[in-house]
Amino acid sequence: MRKIAAAVLSAGLCTMGLSMAIAHPDAAEHESKNVLPADMDRGARTELMKHFAQSLGVRCSYCHVGEEGAPLSTYDFESDAKPAKERARQMLLLTHKLNMDEKLPGEERVSLTDMSENRVTCYTCHRGELRPATMVPSPEG
Ligand code: HEC
Ligand code: HEC
Repeated sequence: MRKIAAAVLSAGLCTMGLSMAIAHPDAAEHESKNVLPADMDRGARTELMKHFAQSLGVRCSYCHVGEEGAPLSTYDFESDAKPAKERARQMLLLTHKLNMDEKLPGEERVSLTDMSENRVTCYTCHRGELRPATMVPSPEG
């Protein structure tokens, strides 16, 4: 399980490095930038995307090119034009790295694609907020 996840991650990091070396990414290179497997089940991918959106308290359009309220069929999901999408991709790798860390206490649960299989998820830090709180709130009253 861990070995498979690690292989997927290093493959992802490899292709990321490759695409970063190319100055002008275009549609043909887009595929190589992705961290998620190209043959990922669509239903599972939608679940993961909902997890992203709900954990951060945003809609699909925060990361993807498309008009809020317009049908999703009009969105350009493959575009990497929005910086938030790249941030989310880095965050996905960070989350995966945390889950793979043997120092993380508790039962080993590591998945790149299924957050319900993980100890650390986007929600662990974000809790419905775009920017996780860093300070303990001061007591009220
Ligand atoms: C927090 C940012 C974020 C949000 C919100 C988000 N996505 Fe994504 N989405 C990503 C990232 C990052 C990828 C690329 C993952 C990778 O590198 O493989 C992606 C990939 C996709 C893809 C595959 C595109 C391709 O390259 O083939 C689809 C389809 C998609 N998202 C749909 C959605 C839908 C529908 C929603 C709303 C429910 C949504 N996303 C919300 C960040 C986001
Ligand atoms: C270990 C804690 C942690 C985890 C887990 C985590 N994040 Fe984050 N995330 C942060 C912090 C900290 C910031 C920076 C907030 C700031 O700039 O104040 C951040 C920022 C972001 C941003 C940029 C928000 C903006 O300002 O536009 C995105 C997008 C994001 N995270 C997506 C994700 C996604 C998607 C996941 C799950 C795959 C995830 N994060 C998991 C801690 C985390």
